[in-house]
Amino acid sequence: MQLEVSAQRAYPIAISLTVLYVAHRLWRLSKRRSRTVPRSQERVLVIGASSGIGRSMAHEYAAAGARVCVVGRREHELNAVADECASLHPRAAVGGAGGERGSSEDTFPVVADFTNPEDMVALRKKLEERWSGLDTLVVCAGVSALRPLLEVAGLERKDGKFSPPQASTEGVQHTVDVAHVAIRGNYIGPLVCAVTFIPLLSSTSAAPSIALISSLGAVIPPPTRTLYASTKASSLALYQALAVEHPTIKFTFVIPSTVEGDFRASAVDGGEVREADPNKHGLKRTAVAKKSIQAVDRGEKFVFMPWAFGRVAHFFYWVAPSIVEHFAARKYNFTPQ
Ligand SMILES: NC(=O)c1ccc[n+]([C@@H]2O[C@H](COP(=O)([O-])OP(=O)(O)OC[C@H]3O[C@@H](n4cnc5c(N)ncnc54)[C@H](OP(=O)(O)O)[C@@H]3O)[C@@H](O)[C@H]2O)c1
Repeated sequence: MQLEVSAQRAYPIAISLTVLYVAHRLWRLSKRRSRTVPRSQERVLVIGASSGIGRSMAHEYAAAGARVCVVGRREHELNAVADECASLHPRAAVGGAGGERGSSEDTFPVVADFTNPEDMVALRKKLEERWSGLDTLVVCAGVSALRPLLEVAGLERKDGKFSPPQASTEGVQHTVDVAHVAIRGNYIGPLVCAVTFIPLLSSTSAAPSIALISSLGAVIPPPTRTLYASTKASSLALYQALAVEHPTIKFTFVIPSTVEGDFRASAVDGGEVREADPNKHGLKRTAVAKKSIQAVDRGEKFVFMPWAFGRVAHFFYWVAPSIVEHFAARKYNFTPQ
């Protein structure tokens, strides 16, 4: 008898939850960005597209039919990416007799330094001339740093003692110089992009979006990555605050763990790679690119990769930091001396 009463109560709850779930899914579908900005009309700017994740994102956007402007400092690499994008573009298929190959209006390279205001303002003018605006900004460019901070200052630590026992003036100055390069590459660049492109996005797109490629190191402090983690954390906090200041723009923060590729070659402190070979054990660039684009399309704010590992580690860092710190030290093969 009691069982029947509980079942009678459970049915309406189950039906209400199902209706709510379906309504939520339908509401999300109706809000899909592609309804406002179809891919074939989407104007995408990828900063840091000459290699790695940015290059893969440019490929994915071009193959899906978006217009893509690729930016970086290495001209040769950038031209190659623009060619790859042009040949992947669906409009390339109409090439030949009278048809256009993925045209320069669809995909084009701009050699520029994202830390340089002149370069970024000139880039904005080009986008205004060619596309009359911008829909999606991907800020992917960044630099790595791989050494423990005191090592940058010239100190070694053995058996709990530093050698030399104190940092010299030159050592401290060198650390400041290296930090400036990391700050330029990981904080000033994203800042210059935000100031340059937010008004353009806001005024010319029906559904403006910004994706910042950050790092798990920005939310879970890793040893030997003090400069990298702190500078990536500062740009993440900058964009998180900008998301509140500019609610009409959808911000997506991509937070991956180690990714395959040559990123560590850009280390501003010349440090060595300590973790397991990123090219064997890292996330695949294409997977990060696809997931990031999907998140932008869906208007998702955070993309942890791998999802469970990133989310769980992030949560546990606040409730049991020493456990997460222990695993972070193991990942980077770091033993405090
Ligand atoms: N690889 C990883 O393990 C990993 C993990 C988590 C997060 N991330 C983040 O993912 C992003 C991309 O990394 P990646 O692995 O794809 O590395 P990557 O292959 O070295 O790509 C970095 C890109 O940034 C560009 N860049 C650097 N400084 C620039 C500047 N001043 N102006 C313009 N472009 C600049 C580089 O182009 P030029 O050299 O031609 O200028 C290159 O295209 C970085 O922000 C990084 O922090 C990487």
